[in-house]
Amino acid sequence: MRTHIVLLGLPGVGKGTQGQRLSARMNIPFISSGDALRNELARHTEIAEEFEKYMNAGLLVPDDIVEEFIADMLAGYNLKKGFVFDGFPRTVHQAGFVNGYLASRNTAIDAVLYLVAPDEEIIKRISGRRVCPKCGAVYNIYFNPPKEDEKCDICGTKLVQRDDDKEEVVKNRIKVYKESTHPLVDYYNNLGLLYEINAVGTVDAVQNRIEAILNG
Ligand code: AP5
Ligand code: MG
Repeated sequence: MRTHIVLLGLPGVGKGTQGQRLSARMNIPFISSGDALRNELARHTEIAEEFEKYMNAGLLVPDDIVEEFIADMLAGYNLKKGFVFDGFPRTVHQAGFVNGYLASRNTAIDAVLYLVAPDEEIIKRISGRRVCPKCGAVYNIYFNPPKEDEKCDICGTKLVQRDDDKEEVVKNRIKVYKESTHPLVDYYNNLGLLYEINAVGTVDAVQNRIEAILNG
């Protein structure tokens, strides 16, 4: 069974949604660079100043800054049994960095799950996304609405839209993905690690497809 996993795919395709489920199901850590960076922003930490302007514009945080951040973040996890990485590596340079970092911890990636859905579906998923600013739970007003209007089912906090989910920023994120992150599809395919997953359908249906691949 493959347990050392990277999630790859367009913004809004469902990496966080599937990653959290996989982590719970397989009892391995879910590690998201986007969540960790947003957490720094929310806490107004000193390093957050370095990357806020990039995130708010839908641009990637430069490799040198983010690689140091990723190494610090990963240092806090036990990676032995496996992991689910979401949001990194995101450039070919970061992929080389992550390979080297994992080798120094005597581990390596064994599956890159490339989630695929058409642009129209992506736009709908992102425009409908609402998140809980307190506990981080993710909803969708079209596909997975909270029980009570705009309030978190878990902690009751009023849901918000992510700052970078505004239409003009989303366009940039998609463009940046296509230019800088999509080359990783070929990169991991050449290493024999890439598995393409049809990400259209219910969250359960996509999860079943992923599990079939990981068990195969
Ligand atoms: P990041 O947080 O990584 O964002 P992203 O890649 O743009 O991806 P999203 O979180 O938007 O989408 P997702 O695929 O997780 O979808 P989700 O599961 O939420 O990065 C944000 C920013 O941080 C970047 O722009 C950059 O500035 C910076 N950054 C982060 N990492 C970096 C790095 N390594 N290097 C440089 N910069 C970095 O689902 C979306 C919605 O769809 C939800 O509402 C969900 O409920 C719904 N949904 C999910 N699955 C389904 C389904 N099957 N059917 C219907 N709805 C569904
Ligand atoms: Mg996400």
